[in-house]
Amino acid sequence: MSRVQLQLKKSVDSSYDIVIERGILKKLASDLRTKRFAENYVVITDTKVSRLFGKSVCDSLKREGLLLGKIVVSVGEKSKSLSRVQECCEQLLSLGANRQTGVIALGGGVVGDLAGFVAASYMRGVPCVQVPTTLLAMVDSSVGGKVGVDLPSGKNMVGAFWQPKKVYIDPEVLRSLPAKDWKSGLGESVKYGAIMDRSLWEFFEKHADFLKEVPKKPMPSQWKLIEEMVERCVKIKAEVVMKDEKEGNLRQVLNYGHTFGHVVELMSDYTILHGEAVAVGMKMAAALAHELRFLSKAELDRQNDLLKKLGLGKTKTKGLIKDFVEHMRKDKKTKGDLRVVLVDRLGRCHQELGRFGIKVDSAVVRKVLKESALIDDIDQAAQPAVQTNSWASSYSSSYSSSSSYSAPSTPAGETDLQKRLREMRERAELRRRMQGGSGSGGLGSGGYLPG
Ligand SMILES: NC(=O)c1ccc[n+]([C@@H]2O[C@H](COP(=O)([O-])OP(=O)(O)OC[C@H]3O[C@@H](n4cnc5c(N)ncnc54)[C@H](O)[C@@H]3O)[C@@H](O)[C@H]2O)c1
Ligand SMILES: [Zn+2]
Repeated sequence: MSRVQLQLKKSVDSSYDIVIERGILKKLASDLRTKRFAENYVVITDTKVSRLFGKSVCDSLKREGLLLGKIVVSVGEKSKSLSRVQECCEQLLSLGANRQTGVIALGGGVVGDLAGFVAASYMRGVPCVQVPTTLLAMVDSSVGGKVGVDLPSGKNMVGAFWQPKKVYIDPEVLRSLPAKDWKSGLGESVKYGAIMDRSLWEFFEKHADFLKEVPKKPMPSQWKLIEEMVERCVKIKAEVVMKDEKEGNLRQVLNYGHTFGHVVELMSDYTILHGEAVAVGMKMAAALAHELRFLSKAELDRQNDLLKKLGLGKTKTKGLIKDFVEHMRKDKKTKGDLRVVLVDRLGRCHQELGRFGIKVDSAVVRKVLKESALIDDIDQAAQPAVQTNSWASSYSSSYSSSSSYSAPSTPAGETDLQKRLREMRERAELRRRMQGGSGSGGLGSGGYLPG
């Protein structure tokens, strides 16, 4: 026998700056020229962001001699797919991109996750720069290096850790954000206060009336508040990632509200935006923490009061509590047990033996969910078909391309909930085809790997 050992001990410095500055988008190109992360750049963006900011970003890159091209994908979660990754890589190739070419992710979390993953994969990895344009992407997805795309059977199922070379945050761009996307970003932002920083929670309480609306024409002092909010959230995210990049333990605290929230998203077929689902999840998690006597009633009410003031956490999920809990168990972070992140006071996560993922009993979770009245606990699949059902409008893309409909075969390993959802979709699709409508893409009823 012969044995060859390949020793590969690595010490890599992946440190980077996250700059938050109004108007920084205008300085992006000149800064990239001095930083020399890459010889030239391809901007990846979506159609809407391209319309809003694509031209000015590309023009300034062109002036600096840095623009190799622009790739524009459609708006929405559907662009987070492997086929889009392939198309982007092929376009990079035809633009002449090589290993010295950088990718600029200009957009929200969808573009950030897709372009980041394209950068991680193209020619085994090229430099990436994140330029987030939604609140959610600013405070969360652009920082920390998690990139990836969805599979029809589940969200974020394929991905990588690919840290950007720099993150450029220009709060000015938030002015054009739709109200629902602002709210979604707010849900993710208040979470940071709940898990780590009581004074940030108090900041949100103090300024809730202003922060609940999209800042259309803020005064200079109000801009300061927005910048402070973004900066404080980003600081917490950066601190957590620095201590636990690969989510061994501490990074799990960022999933507060998410184990519940992912199921809220899933059971709404992703019609509920992520931040709103997280806010609902925070209400469920806090109710559970109170039931387990970790969290006082006063703190529980205080959390829910702020969420209400911000217009968050209002969504009622349609479906059965037992299905909901079954899906929580399937969440990738729970490894079969039911584990959730809980707070024991606003600003502090509960720990057991130094771990932040707290094992909880499913019967207690079911009881809490029942009392919360946040799930209607009605068997939707058993209900007579209603034409306005949201499932019908977001029918899975895998069934939408052919003109003659035949029911897909039952996927192996399908859960009870997945089966109900599939059957609902099949019925909806059948109805749609009988009415001669056309389907739109969407995710299948699979799992979720947190972003
Ligand atoms: N990688 C991570 O760590 C991580 C963390 C959280 C969420 N995510 C992912 O982020 C995605 C959601 O991100 P999102 O909420 O930013 O959604 P998004 O990227 O779909 O953007 C929402 C909408 O806002 C538009 N938009 C973007 N910037 C705008 C602006 N300045 N003005 C007007 N419109 C603008 C977009 O075109 C889109 O229509 C999900 O796929 C989620 O999985 C990833
Ligand atoms: Zn999130």
